[in-house]
Amino acid sequence: MLEKIKDLIAEVEKISVDTKEKAEELRLKYLSKKGVLNEIFAEFKKVKPEEKKEYGQKINSLKTLVESKIAAAQEALEEQLSKPNDLDITLPGPNYNLGSHHPITMVKNEIIEIFSRLGFTVAEGQEIEDDYHNFTALNFPPEHPARDMQDTFFIETNPDILLRTHTSGGQVRVMEKQKPPIRVLVPGRVFRNEAVSARSHCIFHQIEGLYIDKNVSFADLKQTLMYFAKEFYGEKTEIRLRPSYFPFTEPSAEMDVSCSICGGKGCGICKNSGWLEVLGCGMVHPNVLKNCGIDPNEYSGFAFGMGIERTAMLRYGVTDIRMFFENDMKFLSRFKY
Ligand code: PHE
Repeated sequence: MLEKIKDLIAEVEKISVDTKEKAEELRLKYLSKKGVLNEIFAEFKKVKPEEKKEYGQKINSLKTLVESKIAAAQEALEEQLSKPNDLDITLPGPNYNLGSHHPITMVKNEIIEIFSRLGFTVAEGQEIEDDYHNFTALNFPPEHPARDMQDTFFIETNPDILLRTHTSGGQVRVMEKQKPPIRVLVPGRVFRNEAVSARSHCIFHQIEGLYIDKNVSFADLKQTLMYFAKEFYGEKTEIRLRPSYFPFTEPSAEMDVSCSICGGKGCGICKNSGWLEVLGCGMVHPNVLKNCGIDPNEYSGFAFGMGIERTAMLRYGVTDIRMFFENDMKFLSRFKY
């Protein structure tokens, strides 16, 4: 009988218990009522008293071996179950984020959408411009400071070719090709040789509007801009026009809108004035019309231009213009819709 127990121990040691079923099989074979161990215990009763100790020890070690095998198998199985299974094809797939529009694109599209209801279409203009379209045709006097090296990026050594400093050159290109009536928007990237800070960048975006027809008046300009302000900044928005100067418009004005954050009461964003400066505008200067082959005695028109970054900063409460160019996912994911 002692030999039989030793054989059983050797046998159990060899068995690998790696499934629930095998563990159950082992339990049934050894530990159940009709199992091997109970059989052995029955025989154990017949063992002579002086041999009982040795037999008892062997039987016990067989029993402990079986029990520990089952316990170990159970533990391993539980651990396996608690681990995520890479191959589980029923699990939902990884969550790939869909991209979204950049806030500059979103604001640009919204502005275009509002003006398109008034019949404005879109022309792109070009980022690399010549002096004529960027300055001369727009009635910039030869010594105007904006032509200075400090403001303008010139292409190589040719002072005639430059990166456009505003989108207004796009108006000239449209007027050269198209006869009035003209209703066009020119959105695009512009470049200025300025120190980069939280408030200004050497690359930014503008959107320009131009309307030329017979009998276009300053009242039309004001009404058009008021419509835009109410659509974009909210129905309760009020506008105010302050006299200003641009070489290509006469008269010229800056438009402020009542602060949409505090409703005009005064807050940190509007620097307690209740007003936010949002765009430049004016009646197209007769010289500009003449330069583009349009008779200023027959036609008149207005133009306006705004910075898209600035507009987006006001719309979304962004305080640092550089954020638009950082490609910071944390920042960009705020603009999902
Ligand atoms: N081009 C002007 C600027 O860059 C903005 C402007 C456009 C003003 C059209 C008046 C009319 O500041």
